[in-house]
Amino acid sequence: MGSYVQLRRAGANLSGCCPFHSEKTPSFTVFPDRHFYCFGCGAGGDVISFIMRQENLDYAGAIAFLAARAGLAVPQQGEVREDGVRRSRVLEMNKTAARYFREILNTDAGAEARAYLAKRQLSGATVRRFGLGFAPNDFSSLYRFLRGKGYTDEEMIAGFLCRRSDRSGHMFSLFRNRIMFPIIDVAGNVIAFGGRVMDDSKPKYLNSSDTPAFKKSKNLFALNYAKGNCAEQMILCEGYMDVIALHAAGFPCAVATLGTAITPEQARLMTKYTSRVVISYDSDEAGQRAAQKALRILGEVGLETRVLRMTGAKDPDEYIKAYGPDRFRQLLAGSSTGFEYRLEAILAPKDLSLADEKIKAAAEVCRLIAASGSRVEREVYILEAAKRLELPPDILRQDVEREAGRMRREQKKQESREAHAGAAGYGDRVNPDAAKNMRVWRGEETVLGLMLLYDEHRAAICSGAVPLTEEDFFTDFGRRAFGAILELERSDAGFEIGLLGEHFTPEELGRLEKMRIERRGLSENSISVLRESAELLHSEAERRRHADEGALSAVERKRAALAAKKKDKTT
Ligand code: UTP
Ligand code: MN
Repeated sequence: MGSYVQLRRAGANLSGCCPFHSEKTPSFTVFPDRHFYCFGCGAGGDVISFIMRQENLDYAGAIAFLAARAGLAVPQQGEVREDGVRRSRVLEMNKTAARYFREILNTDAGAEARAYLAKRQLSGATVRRFGLGFAPNDFSSLYRFLRGKGYTDEEMIAGFLCRRSDRSGHMFSLFRNRIMFPIIDVAGNVIAFGGRVMDDSKPKYLNSSDTPAFKKSKNLFALNYAKGNCAEQMILCEGYMDVIALHAAGFPCAVATLGTAITPEQARLMTKYTSRVVISYDSDEAGQRAAQKALRILGEVGLETRVLRMTGAKDPDEYIKAYGPDRFRQLLAGSSTGFEYRLEAILAPKDLSLADEKIKAAAEVCRLIAASGSRVEREVYILEAAKRLELPPDILRQDVEREAGRMRREQKKQESREAHAGAAGYGDRVNPDAAKNMRVWRGEETVLGLMLLYDEHRAAICSGAVPLTEEDFFTDFGRRAFGAILELERSDAGFEIGLLGEHFTPEELGRLEKMRIERRGLSENSISVLRESAELLHSEAERRRHADEGALSAVERKRAALAAKKKDKTT
């Protein structure tokens, strides 16, 4: 964990800033038993769940990752997903498909596609570098090709290359008559495809949806090429073609999202490779709005951000074609900081020679400045804004500080609201049932916490010395956790907390970790505590069963009465 997070000693533990949410004061804690828990966002677990979250891997993937790091081999099984499709098979299949698309591009069937690429001024070298290809204009040839290579229907469906027709039951290719852009991860795997039509039909780009090998919210187009060229700065574009044009024009640090707005995960991914990002979105209104949003998301993970403004062209691809790389380089050098950009967005549409517009602008600018974190930052911005607004800095300073105070109070209120809601269990995605009966849920937490911590408590439950069954649990999450712990306890290998990773999501593992550390912090953890809680759960379950039976018999009584009435009428 120390290789991802800068950890400092804090008593018996280590602490640092959480890599799973943005924060400036450390609430991420690593305990001596090498489990972690973030008191800010509730992420928690062991080394394996840490890697699952951090590297966006499933349980088996995290094991493989750690094994590779330690120079160990993992037996080849276990990465089978619920639908039986292995990630490695999908990756292999994608590579095969990418080669197929490339080959088709160079046959007669690809003539129109080659002409299209030439029209877009892509050189042969660029086409080869990005591995561009062409999906032929028919429903079955890719399917037949992949079949011939031994891939199953399930694999093709899971990998978003083919689908089965509801009507005919036949398999068909999803990408047809499209220029194919392979999406390649930093390890060089073909993880997905984007396919562009060559005319005005819709959708313009078809992208793989999420597959066993791909999550679009966690990858970036061309990061595989940009990663070695972006230490100084990275250029973020909207489109595949923008990125390709930029790389070809000598800006190999460009990346793009994959048909969606930028996500916090993508922003965090960027921080691994660069510290500054220049947002270079389309010049239209939608692009500019998206840029504002990207500024916020990139800022939240601590990236230094700039925004590049283009005039006279729709997007970087067109700009480079119209004005050349040197002019683009100048734009890049002159790109504005996030603050300048937002200031401009406020001021540009206003006529500052009119008093009312200037007053409105000043108020908006003060709110903008008040939202920035440090006093120094605010001071720098105040001086800049004062110049642009032609107002004395002192006046702005007063308004900014008042606004900043108001925002702090508002945030405190919000935080305490959230804390209350959290304590009461509302809006709990991991365990939505908890809020319905907090007393019972506390009992479940006690039992589970004790079972996670102590061999003898698990043994007591397992042997029946403390009687408790899955049916005694009220919440779905509690029941699943109980079942999984017992199943491991009874298995040949025995209980090992790390093995829970296979059965629970990272959020759920965080919750289990929370129970463990809260329980560990309590002084009384003897068998009588376990017995007491188990009895509570059992008696509550009995009560529910009786209530159910009562309700059922009430329904039956009513039904009988109705039937009697009916009979009265007919006779
Ligand atoms: P644009 O419509 O700006 O296209 O979409 P573009 O990048 O300029 O493409 P060209 O130059 O016309 O070829 C920007 C990005 O949004 C996603 C794609 O990732 C595209 O590159 N997009 C767009 C889709 O995923 N689907 C669509 O139908 C359209
Ligand atoms: Mn374009």
